[in-house]
Amino acid sequence: MNEERMKVGIIGLDDMLGGGLISGSICAIIGTYGTGKTTFSLQFIWEGLKKGEHIIYISLEEREERILEYMMQKGWDVKPFLNKSLFVIKLDPTDFNLANNRIKNELPRLIKQVNARRVVIDPISLFEDLFDADSVRRQEMFRFVEGMRDQKCTIMMTSETDKDNAFSSRHALIEYLADTVILLRYVRPSDLTDVHLALEVVKMRMSAHSREIKPYEIQHDKVLVYSEANVF
Ligand SMILES: Nc1ncnc2c1ncn2[C@@H]1O[C@H](COP(=O)(O)OP(=O)(O)OP(=O)(O)O)[C@@H](O)[C@H]1O
Ligand SMILES: [Mg+2]
Repeated sequence: MNEERMKVGIIGLDDMLGGGLISGSICAIIGTYGTGKTTFSLQFIWEGLKKGEHIIYISLEEREERILEYMMQKGWDVKPFLNKSLFVIKLDPTDFNLANNRIKNELPRLIKQVNARRVVIDPISLFEDLFDADSVRRQEMFRFVEGMRDQKCTIMMTSETDKDNAFSSRHALIEYLADTVILLRYVRPSDLTDVHLALEVVKMRMSAHSREIKPYEIQHDKVLVYSEANVF
C-alpha cells in the first residue's frame, strides 16, 4: 500500500503506524482517565499547524482557554494560528440539540469552509452519551462516521474506556467504526512499583502496523513512544 500518510507527530508512534495515519482516515484513541488522550490529540494538531494545515478542534470537555493554555505551557505557540488556521470549538455535552446539530450538521460544513486537514473530537464518548438507547446511538454514530468519511480530512476521536473493561471504549462502538484504533493504558507490574503507560495499535485498516505493546511517556513538551523498548 502506498497511500499518503499523515504523521501524528508523536515520535515512535508514527513508526508503529507504518509512517503515520492514512490521510483521510478516522482514528480512535481509547484510554481511561489521565492516560493522555487529550495530549495525543493536541500533539496531532500541533504537528498539522507546524505544516501550515488548517485544523478544527472540537472539545466536549475542556474549555477553549484551557486547551490553548495547555499547548502554550508545552512551548507550542498556537496564538498566531488561532482563528486563522486553528479553530477550537467548545461544545456543551449536556445540551443535546445544540451539540447534536453542531457535530452532525455544522461540522461537515465547517470542514469544507475552512478546508480543514485535521479534525479532533475530544472526547467522542461524551457525544455518544447523548443518545439514551443503544440502537439509536449505534445508528447515529454509524451515520455520522460514514458522513465524515466523505470529507477530505483526517479525523482523530478520543474515547474513555468502559468502566469494567480497559480494552473497550465506553459504548464499544467507535473501535468498530474507526479505521485505526490506538489503545492507551496503565500497566502496574506489581502493587509496589511505579505505574507505567503503554500503548498498542489494535487495528489499522488497509495497512500493516506494529502489534507490540510499547511504553510511552507524557513529557512536559511532547509525548514519546519508546518503540524500541519492551513493557514487560
Ligand atoms: N507537563 C507535564 N509533564 C508531564 N506529564 C504531564 C504534563 N501535563 C500532563 N501530564 C500528564 O498527562 C496526564 C493528563 O493527560 P490528558 O489530559 O491528556 O489525559 P486524558 O486521557 O485526556 O484524561 P481525561 O480522560 O481525564 O480527559 C496527567 O495526568 C499527567 O500525568
Ligand atoms: Mg482528556
